[in-house]
Amino acid sequence: MTPIIVRTREELAEVRSEVKGTLAFVPTMGALHEGHRSLIRQARQGADTVVVSIFVNPLQFGPDEDLDRYPRTLPADLEMCAAEGADIVFTPPRSEIYPDEPRVTVDSGPMGEIVEGAARPGHFDGMLTVVLKLLNLVRPDVAIFGEKDAQQLAMIRRMVADLNVPVEIAAAPTVREPDGLALSSRNRYLTDRERGTALALSRALAAGAHAAGAGPEAVLAAANAVLDEATAADPPLHLDYLVLVDPATFTPITPSHAGRAVLAVAGRVGATHLIDNVPLHFPEES
Ligand code: PAF
Repeated sequence: MTPIIVRTREELAEVRSEVKGTLAFVPTMGALHEGHRSLIRQARQGADTVVVSIFVNPLQFGPDEDLDRYPRTLPADLEMCAAEGADIVFTPPRSEIYPDEPRVTVDSGPMGEIVEGAARPGHFDGMLTVVLKLLNLVRPDVAIFGEKDAQQLAMIRRMVADLNVPVEIAAAPTVREPDGLALSSRNRYLTDRERGTALALSRALAAGAHAAGAGPEAVLAAANAVLDEATAADPPLHLDYLVLVDPATFTPITPSHAGRAVLAVAGRVGATHLIDNVPLHFPEES
C-alpha cells in the first residue's frame, strides 16, 4: 500500500481529521534503516493508523555538527514506509515547521545539560522543541522512539509527564549489525577502518553487561578496559563519556545501586559522533 504523503501542516490536518481509531506515530529524521523499520512495525502492530514523519530538525544540531551533510534518502525512506504499511508520511520542508525564527522553545532543564547534553549543548532543547511541535500537529495516541537514544527517550518521557502532553510514549529495542554495531543513520559516514574502531562501543557495553553480577564499579571497569584500547587505536576513538546512570534521570547510580540502570557510551571516530547503551539490572544484595 502506498502511504499518503503530506508536506504541509494544512494537508496533515486534513488527513488527520479523517483518521478513525488509534494513531501511532514514528518521528524520524529520515535515512531510515532497520532500526526505524522495527519502530514502524511496532507502530503497525498496535494501531489503526501509522504516521511517520521525516524531518531533519536544524534546531537539534550544534554549529559544528553535521546538519548539512546529514544523509537525505527520501525515495528509499518512502519505499520502507510503504513496505511496512505506514498510512501517512509527513515530510515537511523547514518553512512548515519553522515559518520564522522560533522565539519560544522547550527548555530541557538540568537533564538536558548532562551526559549527551554536556557533549552537545542545546541538542535536547532543539530535539524536545520539534518533538512537541510534531506531537501537537500529529496528535497521536502513542509515539514510538528507539532505546538506542536512551537519554532522548528519557527526556521525551519527562517532557510528556511534566507538560501533561496527552500521548503514550513507547520504546523499541536497539537493532544491531551482526557484529554488534548499533544501527544509526550516521554509520554510513564510517570508513571500514573507522567502523573497526567504532565496534569498541558495543564491545565495551557487552563487557560491562557481562560484569554486572559483580556490581556497578566492575561494570565501569570492564567497559573502560575495552574503551582504553580503542582510544589508543588507529584511527582512535575520541571518548565523550561512559556513564552508568538511572534510566529515568540520567544521573549516576551509586556503587550500591539496586534496580535498573543504563550503561551509556558516546564518542567520535573520525568526524562521526556515535552513541550506544545497554540496559542493566542490579539485584538487591541478599
Ligand atoms: O531520533 C531522532 O531521529 C530525532 O531526534 C527525532 C526524535 C526525530 C527528533 O528530531
